[in-house]
Amino acid sequence: MVKICCIGAGYVGGPTMAVIALKCPSIEVVVVDISTPRITAWNSDHLPIYEPGLEDVVKECRGRNLFFSNDVEKHVADADIVFVSVNTPTKTQGLGAGKAADLTYWESAARMIADVSKSAKIVVEKSTVPVKTAEAIEKILTHNSKGIDFQILSNPEFLAEGTAIKDLYNPDRVLIGGRETPEGLKAVQALKQVYAHWVPEEKIICTNLWSAELSKLAANAFLAQRISSVNAMSALCEATGADVSQVSHAIGKDTRIGSKFLNASVGFGGSCFQKDILNLVYICECNGLPEVANYWKQVIQINDYQKSRFVNRVVASMFNTVAGKKIGILGFAFKKDTGDTRETPAIDVCRGLLVDKAELRIYDPQVPQAQIEKDLTMVKFDWENPVLVNHVSPVTLNQVSIVENAYEASKDAHGVCILTEWDEFKTLDFQKIYDNMQKPAFIFDGRNVVDPNKLRDIGFIVYSIGKPLDQWLKDMPAVA
Ligand code: NAD
Ligand code: UDX
Repeated sequence: MVKICCIGAGYVGGPTMAVIALKCPSIEVVVVDISTPRITAWNSDHLPIYEPGLEDVVKECRGRNLFFSNDVEKHVADADIVFVSVNTPTKTQGLGAGKAADLTYWESAARMIADVSKSAKIVVEKSTVPVKTAEAIEKILTHNSKGIDFQILSNPEFLAEGTAIKDLYNPDRVLIGGRETPEGLKAVQALKQVYAHWVPEEKIICTNLWSAELSKLAANAFLAQRISSVNAMSALCEATGADVSQVSHAIGKDTRIGSKFLNASVGFGGSCFQKDILNLVYICECNGLPEVANYWKQVIQINDYQKSRFVNRVVASMFNTVAGKKIGILGFAFKKDTGDTRETPAIDVCRGLLVDKAELRIYDPQVPQAQIEKDLTMVKFDWENPVLVNHVSPVTLNQVSIVENAYEASKDAHGVCILTEWDEFKTLDFQKIYDNMQKPAFIFDGRNVVDPNKLRDIGFIVYSIGKPLDQWLKDMPAVA
């Protein structure tokens, strides 16, 4: 029986290994983590992450060929294939602060693998890492390994949160990079056999190590670039009377462009896009390519611009001040169907409104109160000025309350901001919401989930990203 161990029981390690266990009953899969609460949660009825379909998969396999454990060293020592799926955040201090990936967790995992291994292993990079990381990992393993054979593979993960199980069942592709030596090719084949249990062979792409590592950063950069492109267009749409949804539809019909990932929004969030682009920018700079670095940096700058443009629009439309005004916030997660708030645009929007002294009532169906409070008060890292400014000052929580539903959030409010595209927001009783709000009643839709014309008929003043402005908004222009 092949034994797999995955280091890191997070958003990637947990779901990925659960699906491997489900699809490969002949393989034993153990997911290990240094965090005891995380492992305890994986072994309980309340999984540590919310992901549609995940609970069913875990219930079916846990205790059969899927295990979660804190005994990291034992299970690494026993495994034939070790996936490393630890976090690789942006460095916040030291060399490369604000851009480079922090490989502290990766390096400590690699050193531990070298220390405890007694038999040959395939070590798989599942985390997103800078191109050439495999070379560094190889050095750590071979210099510490007492002659044990390690083959390093890059197998980046392309799942998106909220659709992780669907993406893992039916991936667009699986990418495996390895050394082009006989041993390297053999290791690639061994990992390919694991995926071949359910992924058609033509979808499994094998490349050299550096292409696989770079493809992951490139894919995220291209995806984020599409969102910044459509968001840049949304600003121009508002200025000209064009409708960004119509523009997206029209350009998406061109098969060379394609229709996916063209939804204008208050900005992209999530743990990956910003981090991976910053990492790409850093790699370009280190390779003497400042023009290429600046090109990709612009994708993040437009994203920051989009978030502050939204805040400015809210404040400008409400007579240039939100001080003491009640604003309902619908949605805090970075996208629907997840409780994850990492880099969610809601943090920046809420903080922008709080700085202007608004009173916020926040509702999200999945994000717990403690998480929202932590996000709003944390010292936020400023990627553009990591050394000079270092941190944006935190806000206090006495202007914030967390509530149980959208109606509570909007009761007596002067305005409502929709910041996550949860399906339940599409079917709210907006007449009831309007009746219970202060007048004039404003809706600022950062996700284009409501029909602005229907809401205008009720009596709302409506701002929808990239849609034609009503007279009120035209009369109260926001300074970008
Ligand atoms: P996460 O923070 O949810 O999980 C990482 C886990 O690794 C944590 O539970 C942490 O305790 C554990 N860990 C850290 N060091 C460890 C060590 N030395 N030994 C054992 N456990 C250790 O992170 P994530 O979202 O799962 O992301 C993991 C990697 O996958 C990152 O590189 C990320 O860029 C990449 N990725 C993430 C996504 C996503 O949607 N979240 C998608 C594709 C790729
Ligand atoms: C992303 C990549 O899609 C995935 O392949 C990779 O493995 C991890 O990073 P994720 O961050 O989980 O996945 O979600 P994604 O669906 O890509 O959305 C990222 C952000 O972009 C969200 O805030 C989302 O709301 C926003 N978005 C997405 C838009 O604003 N418009 C769109 O058209 C699509």
